[in-house]
Amino acid sequence: MRICVLFGSPRRAGHTARLLDAVLGQYPRAEVDRFDAYDMAVSPCIGCGACDKTGACFRRDDMDGLTAALEAADLILVAYPIYFNSIPAPLKAVIDRMQPRFTQTYGRGRRVEKRKKIYFLITAGSAVAEAETAANLLTLKFVANLWEARQMGCRVLANTDQGMPQELEALAREVAAEIAQPL
Ligand SMILES: Cc1cc2nc3c(=O)[nH]c(=O)nc-3n(C[C@H](O)[C@H](O)[C@H](O)COP(=O)(O)O)c2cc1C
Repeated sequence: MRICVLFGSPRRAGHTARLLDAVLGQYPRAEVDRFDAYDMAVSPCIGCGACDKTGACFRRDDMDGLTAALEAADLILVAYPIYFNSIPAPLKAVIDRMQPRFTQTYGRGRRVEKRKKIYFLITAGSAVAEAETAANLLTLKFVANLWEARQMGCRVLANTDQGMPQELEALAREVAAEIAQPL
């Protein structure tokens, strides 16, 4: 199995990293392509419209490698902490640069085959996880669609302000079991 990880926390050993590591631990034999939004050289989309005409971005930067890995993946894992009920800015900048894919899919009628899986791993400091992440879900559905992924799931690990829950391994096993469901 080939996994593409898109990681959106600035903290390498924080809550989101621990959740991601626990889930990745369920796939010891997987080939993993990992992209850290906070390390990527990705300029923000400037809405120039070039991709409307050509289907591609004029920029050559770290989006190229990510795009190839997203295309090649059997499973996409997107992991990030909630920031102001939203997606951390560097990760959002990466998502905005998926606009060429958006124009291909929605503007040019590219067939969406839903042949891979995607899972969103989110952490939130507060206990009110549903309210905190509601604003994200429409964006995440777009991302799933663009990469021909059936949205397998979205797990919110809430209340991290109170510390990391003990049952991280059990939670990771639950996520893997959900991902293992047939498409
Ligand atoms: C700038 C910033 C904004 C945040 N906004 C929220 C928020 O709106 N809702 C929430 O529940 N937690 C919020 N948090 C808390 C983080 O989502 C939470 O601590 C998360 O588990 C951090 O993950 P990390 O350890 O990977 O950094 C915020 C944290 C930061 C630094």
